[in-house]
Amino acid sequence: MKVLVIAAHPNIEESIVNRTWIGELKEHPNITVHELYKQYPDEEIDIEREQRLCEEHDRIVWQFPFYWYSSPPLLKKWQDEVLTHGWAYGSNGDNLHNKELILAVSTGSAKEKYQAGGSNHYSMSELLKPFQATSHLIGTKFLPAFIFNGTYTATHEEIKESAKAYVNYILAEDNFE
Ligand SMILES: Cc1cc2nc3c(=O)[nH]c(=O)nc-3n(C[C@H](O)[C@H](O)[C@H](O)COP(=O)(O)O)c2cc1C
Repeated sequence: MKVLVIAAHPNIEESIVNRTWIGELKEHPNITVHELYKQYPDEEIDIEREQRLCEEHDRIVWQFPFYWYSSPPLLKKWQDEVLTHGWAYGSNGDNLHNKELILAVSTGSAKEKYQAGGSNHYSMSELLKPFQATSHLIGTKFLPAFIFNGTYTATHEEIKESAKAYVNYILAEDNFE
């Protein structure tokens, strides 16, 4: 199983959670870590390179901090530009079919805020629906997201533990049935 992590954090130097996750990911040879903001500081995405990278992997992870209930903009730009008609969807657009897609998301707000009656009103599952719909259109299998809520109050130990749990999760072969 070859895993590609496409990570999008606009300010990784000041990140705690995503930076810790990336450090742990890099320890594992089966995981390719692809940091969009480092690869494309001018935000000019090499579409063919991105498409080849996806084709070479079985499982794709989109990792990002939750910004305004969505991803930071470069991951959206990546979707707009890389998921082209004829490659990702439409006639002959089957290059991602049967690959797996996982979201790995950190959120500032605590878990209990993401529910009906909580201050964010909606669950993470509801808020991530546009990603799920995208996954459906491009023919990937949308696996349950890895979500780390409550980054504002998390301890160093909890963040380190989340990095290990995250890597185990995205490398697991057989627990998604
Ligand atoms: C522009 C911006 C928007 C944010 N929007 C949200 C949000 O909608 N919901 C939320 O729970 N946290 C939000 N946050 C908090 C980030 O999700 C949180 O700081 C991040 O996940 C922490 O990860 P890091 O240590 O890797 O930066 C936002 C932060 C910024 C800077």
